[in-house]
Amino acid sequence: MKEKVFLTRTLHDFALKDLKKKYDIEIHSGEIPIPQSKLKLKIKKVHGLICFPYDRIDKEIIKLGENLKIISTYSVGYDHIDTKFAKKNKIRIGYTPEVLTDATADMAFALLLDLLRRITEGDRNVRNGKWKQIYGAYDYVGVDLQGKTLGIIGLGRIGKTLAKRAKAFDMKIIYHNRKQISKTEEKKLGVKFVTFKELVTQSDILSIHVPHTKETDKMFDMKIFKKMKKTSFLINTSRGKVVNEKDLKIALEEKIIAGAGLDVFETEPINEKHRFTKLENIVLAPHIGSSTKETRIKMAEITTKNLILGMKGKKPIYSVGY
Ligand code: DGY
Repeated sequence: MKEKVFLTRTLHDFALKDLKKKYDIEIHSGEIPIPQSKLKLKIKKVHGLICFPYDRIDKEIIKLGENLKIISTYSVGYDHIDTKFAKKNKIRIGYTPEVLTDATADMAFALLLDLLRRITEGDRNVRNGKWKQIYGAYDYVGVDLQGKTLGIIGLGRIGKTLAKRAKAFDMKIIYHNRKQISKTEEKKLGVKFVTFKELVTQSDILSIHVPHTKETDKMFDMKIFKKMKKTSFLINTSRGKVVNEKDLKIALEEKIIAGAGLDVFETEPINEKHRFTKLENIVLAPHIGSSTKETRIKMAEITTKNLILGMKGKKPIYSVGY
C-alpha cells in the first residue's frame, strides 16, 4: 500500500503527477487556509505533509501526526511551524530558500522604486481623474535613489541580493545583522556594517529581511519610527508581524516617516477596510514577493523533492533543524 501525503493546497500539475506516482495523495480544496479542525482530522493518517506559510502547524497538529515523517513547506519562511517540537518528534522539515531569493529581492526593490518615484500613487491619481494639469517645478516630485542610504536589517540571501540591486543604482548600503559578514564579502557587495541604532537613524530607506520570531515580533514600532529620519521609507517583504501596524499607521499619518512599502501584513489577506488603505504614502502588495511564474515552479520542484527525501527518512535538500 502506498504511503499517504496530504497537501493543504494544490500545486503545479507536474508536482502532483510526481507525487501521485509514489504516494496516495489527498489535496485540500475549499477554504484557504485549511480550517484547523479539518487539518487535525487529516494529519492523523498521513506520512507526509505539504503546507503553505499561512497554515498553522503547531504542537497540537504535530502531536496528532503519529505517522508523520516530513513537513514540506512551500515557502522560505517557517515561522508557521513549531520546528522545535517537530524535531523533538523526529519529523523533518523542508523549506524553499535560494530559489525565491531573486524574486523577493526584486519585490523589495520594486517597492523602493515605487515609493520614491510615487508610481502607484500616480496611477491612482490618473485613474481617479486627479491629474488636471502637466506637473511643474514643485508638483508631484519624487526622490532620487542615487546617493541615498539603503539600510538592510538581516543581510541573508535576500538582503544581499537587494544590496546588489541597490549598488547598481549608486546607493549607499548599510546593514545590521546578528553577525557581521566577512570584510571580503562586504567589499564585494559594497555594504557597511553598522549598529542597529545607526541603521535606524541613518537609513533613507530601511528594508526588513528578518524572520518573524519571539525576538523580532513587532520590533518596528513607534519607538523606532521616531528615531528614523522624517524623510525615510520603510519596506517590508519578510513577515508582517515584525512591524507594529497600529504604530506604523500613526507614523505615516503624522509624517513621522515619509512612507512605507509592504508586501506582508500582520494577518493576511487584508481587504479594502484595512487601516492602511486610506493612506496615500504607502504601497500595498498582496504578499507576492516570490510570486513569479518561474520562481513558483522552482518552489514546487523543491517542495516535492524535500518531501520525497523526508518520506525516505533522508534529509531534505533544504532542511530546518536536521
Ligand atoms: C515565503 O516563502 O515565506 C514567502 O513569504 C511566501 O511567499
